Amino acid sequence: MRIFFNEPSLNTGDSTAGGGLDKIAVIAEIRQTLTEVRDLPTLPTIVMEVMKLVSNPNSSVSEIVELLEEDLALTGKLLRTANSAYYGVPRKIDNLKMALVIIGMDEVSNLITSSSVLKMFPSRPDSEGFDSAAFWRHSAATAEITQGLYAGLRLPKNSGAYVAGLLHDIGKLVLNQYFHHYYLQCTDYALEHSVTPARAEAEVIGVDHGHIGGWLAQRWNLPDEIINAIAQHHIRPADTPQYSFPEMLDWADRFYSLLNGRTPDRVIAMLMKNQEFLDWIGTRSIPLPNLVNDLFNRMERSLKLQEILK
Ligand SMILES: [Fe+2]
Ligand SMILES: [Fe+2]
Repeated sequence: MRIFFNEPSLNTGDSTAGGGLDKIAVIAEIRQTLTEVRDLPTLPTIVMEVMKLVSNPNSSVSEIVELLEEDLALTGKLLRTANSAYYGVPRKIDNLKMALVIIGMDEVSNLITSSSVLKMFPSRPDSEGFDSAAFWRHSAATAEITQGLYAGLRLPKNSGAYVAGLLHDIGKLVLNQYFHHYYLQCTDYALEHSVTPARAEAEVIGVDHGHIGGWLAQRWNLPDEIINAIAQHHIRPADTPQYSFPEMLDWADRFYSLLNGRTPDRVIAMLMKNQEFLDWIGTRSIPLPNLVNDLFNRMERSLKLQEILK
């Protein structure tokens, strides 16, 4: 699949504009690292297997149990989660099948996915300008919110929503870990010019973290829809259809910023005055309080569950 992105040299005629770096060379360097470097983390196969099971309406709890039984660490985490105060079950849950029933299929697959992805990127000390705990909080919450937007807008369920939400900013992590000097240049530029991180990256290095994440997702052989949603969650062609996957991801990302640190009532009041949001929702008759409260609960749940999974 072709991943859309702005070729800096083709657009501006000057590949060094916006920070002085030769963007063509930088893009080539990043792509080469993402296609050739051997020690890049690999996506655990269980993530793909779970995604397959969830996308199949005929999958059963026993199939998930079968998939999980061999993984003692995950089984332990799920039992711990089912027994946590969050679910408030009065008796002790000591078998996986019961745990799955209590947590629910969707949420179990979310938990498996997020704990597997977190394992791939062991926490390291925060580097300058990068707070990895905040990064994963944002990623897990955006994953839940993406699923919530599909449900709230009554769109057909998207089995890749959670994975895409969880990995949507993975390009930022790549930039920070493998190209820290570029990462800092981009964050400085964003501050100096009051632009979004994605805009700053596009202007300084010629490609934003969405596209960088898309290249990594491509290396992991994720489905094309997910690759594209990650790649285009900030910058996408003008003719991208409404409610397309990249656009849903973009809104989920923005919803996190809106919900985080605010009360649902405040968010509802803000949205009612936000013309861009109202245009986006258009004629879809959704009760705004229901949508916002649901997204808020999902965000809270993802944060609580991340604590339990630690
Ligand atoms: Fe992003
Ligand atoms: Fe984001």
